[in-house]
Amino acid sequence: DPKTLGPRTLPPFRAIEPTDADTMTLPSGYRWQVLAPWGEPFTADGREIGFNHDFVGFFPVDLLEGGRSSTDALLTINHEYVNSLFVGGNTKDRTPAQIEAEMRAVGVSVVRVRREKDGWKIVPDARNRRIDALTEIELTGPARGSAAVKGATVVRGTVGNCSGGQTPWGTLLTCEENVDGYTKAWAGSGYEALHQGWVTEIDPFDPAWTPKKRTAMGRFRHENVALTVAKDGRVVGYMGDDMQDSCVYKFVSRGRYTPANRNANRDLLTEGDLYVANFGNGTWLLLDYTRNKKLQEAKDADGKPLFASQADVLADARAAALAVGGTPVDRPEDIEIHPRTGEVYVSLTNNSKHGNYFGQIIKFREDGDDWAAEKFLWEVFAVGGPQSGFASPDNLIFDPYGNLWMVTDNSDLGSNPIKGFHGNNAMFFFPTEGPNAGRAYRFAVGPRDAELTGPVWSHDGRTLFLSVQHPGEDSESLEKLTSSFAARPGTKIPRPTLVAIEGFPGWRSA
Ligand code: FEO
Ligand code: CA
Ligand code: CA
Ligand code: CA
Repeated sequence: DPKTLGPRTLPPFRAIEPTDADTMTLPSGYRWQVLAPWGEPFTADGREIGFNHDFVGFFPVDLLEGGRSSTDALLTINHEYVNSLFVGGNTKDRTPAQIEAEMRAVGVSVVRVRREKDGWKIVPDARNRRIDALTEIELTGPARGSAAVKGATVVRGTVGNCSGGQTPWGTLLTCEENVDGYTKAWAGSGYEALHQGWVTEIDPFDPAWTPKKRTAMGRFRHENVALTVAKDGRVVGYMGDDMQDSCVYKFVSRGRYTPANRNANRDLLTEGDLYVANFGNGTWLLLDYTRNKKLQEAKDADGKPLFASQADVLADARAAALAVGGTPVDRPEDIEIHPRTGEVYVSLTNNSKHGNYFGQIIKFREDGDDWAAEKFLWEVFAVGGPQSGFASPDNLIFDPYGNLWMVTDNSDLGSNPIKGFHGNNAMFFFPTEGPNAGRAYRFAVGPRDAELTGPVWSHDGRTLFLSVQHPGEDSESLEKLTSSFAARPGTKIPRPTLVAIEGFPGWRSA
């Protein structure tokens, strides 16, 4: 419990220097192992771990019985996108079979893992499964069956699975981020972009429960959902739209969370209010077609109404957000809530359009410390650049002492802006209180052309699970590889993988 652990603001490691080594580099006393690499078979019917790992959910295997195992868990792993060079070995003239293989390599893996005597292992389990770009998923909420989704109630697949969140009732929220490119990349497959770009809820414990797209939470480039429960029991989710000059959102459920009844919570995300942040005056603006006149009056460049229904508003939440006065910001990536102060931290990764190459982390506090409030106050927490030593903040996670851990993503900037101070993408530790608040300590550095994503701890804080996404991404060909990280023995092809990092002392009260 963060309230009894109290603040502990020094890192449990000696900070390391930047490097461009093609491996995982950690402080002394820490060790890592490959746990769930792309291509590893793990289900009874031989399905394999997907490509380009991102968000990782940690669900203790005994969670539904009230347990909190730290050595036996169902993990969920997002697989954000594929690199056709590695999945199929070919970027041109891809056959229908290669396109199908790509559709099978994205989505989510649910995989049981256990700490054995000699390290973490994948273990067989009836709940091990893949959800991919072809899995049947139900639409829920106001856009279900509407013209905005071409009348669909059930759709195919989840793609662009970037970051995500875990609900207090033990389900996964996987966020569909970059979903537009597939209309061309998967032409002929029946892919429909309007059916993607939502938040999808998956129950790792119940394979029979059809995954649900929560249209009430809007459609945009969903990075993640930071979910919490407000004072009055409503569920609140903070979300970013990761695009240059796009907005930060908040969803507030209509119903209330019932801790004692898991089934009663399963429809909580079907209905609620969606808001967008105005950082000019610190207000949350309602995106509701019937209650916000600005949405009824919004017109496109030709003077035609932009929206005719709430389904239209949700399906193009970005246009709705800008129409009501939402503040465009520099690519909101991950959002997390401080375990003791309740402040909400947001990574604004960068915005090359504005010459903001290094990004910053901001934080805000809701009015009356009520997450359902309609006003907030914000400030800058840390700024990237040569002085602070980090650039392009992406995924965030708090430890229970209230320290912030962050991973960087400089992959779409090229190496120039960060030359001389950054090296490969890395993971940093920041105290949030005390004399060193906002100071960055480098904990881990990833291999070449990779991004570290999806950090999550086992419940006792002894193991950190981390995704190594797109190692060797800038390779020109299979002959000219820039990385061979986690390659199968005897080969050189790099593999995205989940790694397990140990050496942490675990959470202890002072
Ligand atoms: Fe997939 Fe915004 O990172
Ligand atoms: Ca991200
Ligand atoms: Ca996070
Ligand atoms: Ca990113």
